Amino acid sequence: MEAKSIVERTERGSSREGAAADEFRAHLHGMWGSVARAWGEHAEYADARGAAVTARMLELSMPQPGERLLELACGAGGVGLAAAERLAPGGDVVLSDVVPEMTAIASARAGALGLGNVTTCVLDLERIEQPDGSYDVVLCREGLMFAPDPARAAREIRRVLRPGGRVALAVWGPRDRNPWLGVVLDAVSAQLGKPVPPPGIPGPFSLGDADKLAALLSDAELSDVVISELPVPLRAVSFDEWWARTCALAGPLAKILASLPADAAQALRARAREAIRAYETPDGLEFPGLALLAGGRRAECSVSEVRWISGE
Ligand SMILES: C[S@@+](CC[C@H](N)C(=O)[O-])C[C@H]1O[C@@H](n2cnc3c(N)ncnc32)[C@H](O)[C@@H]1O
Repeated sequence: MEAKSIVERTERGSSREGAAADEFRAHLHGMWGSVARAWGEHAEYADARGAAVTARMLELSMPQPGERLLELACGAGGVGLAAAERLAPGGDVVLSDVVPEMTAIASARAGALGLGNVTTCVLDLERIEQPDGSYDVVLCREGLMFAPDPARAAREIRRVLRPGGRVALAVWGPRDRNPWLGVVLDAVSAQLGKPVPPPGIPGPFSLGDADKLAALLSDAELSDVVISELPVPLRAVSFDEWWARTCALAGPLAKILASLPADAAQALRARAREAIRAYETPDGLEFPGLALLAGGRRAECSVSEVRWISGE
């Protein structure tokens, strides 16, 4: 489905809700479904590259023995799996993603690691079908920015946290600080003669502005919001390795790339090869990358709860 026409159709109405918006979301989720197998194949790579991000998320959220932790948009589940041992004894992890094939991969990985306190659940982070206040910790690595309505997702995160519960999120910083992926989007945009992702469509850099990210979380009534930057460089032994892996994992791009005629696909590769010259080293490619890390918590009680408790 052509993303632009869906956006036009959803925005023409008085609300983005409704059948067209649901269809649009289903389209986005389907794009992630189409790359689930690749996320399984590259799970160790994704976790190795994201290790510093994961460590910072655990530092920010401090999961404790006996607590319940929810990972959203888990993909192959690396963050929740890294947290699982910290919750024992007595605590548990729910690995969730909107794509069932992703949670199946995460479940198999938890089984292979012999983790008895990990379960999986298919959940949309914009509509988290879990009871209010049911988690001590919510984590999400590189997922929130793909939500068409991240403000709704942030409110949902607050809702499922218990009072005092903590959240830690990671999103990619600005496109120009992440050439490892920005170069691909630039090359595809140039090849197609239109911006990718199209304006208004959530993409990997849609929450790449630290001030906007902070406002998004504060507006959702999360407290003690802190945003920090974390360098996440990407190294690859060759152009071919980087290109194949990046294209295989890029959910929103997968369908576009697969549908290109052979000559256009070749021209795209040539563009990308030219664009990465600045990142070539004697040992392969070395790209800078930047993640934004956000931490926050649900306050022990909100103003309305204070009023209720004091009987006003
Ligand atoms: C870039 S991958 C990140 C995967 C994993 N968190 C990691 O860091 O390795 C983005 C993930 O977000 C998931 N996703 C996209 N939209 C979602 C939504 N609305 N609700 C839940 N998960 C979603 C995709 O299925 C995919 O697994």
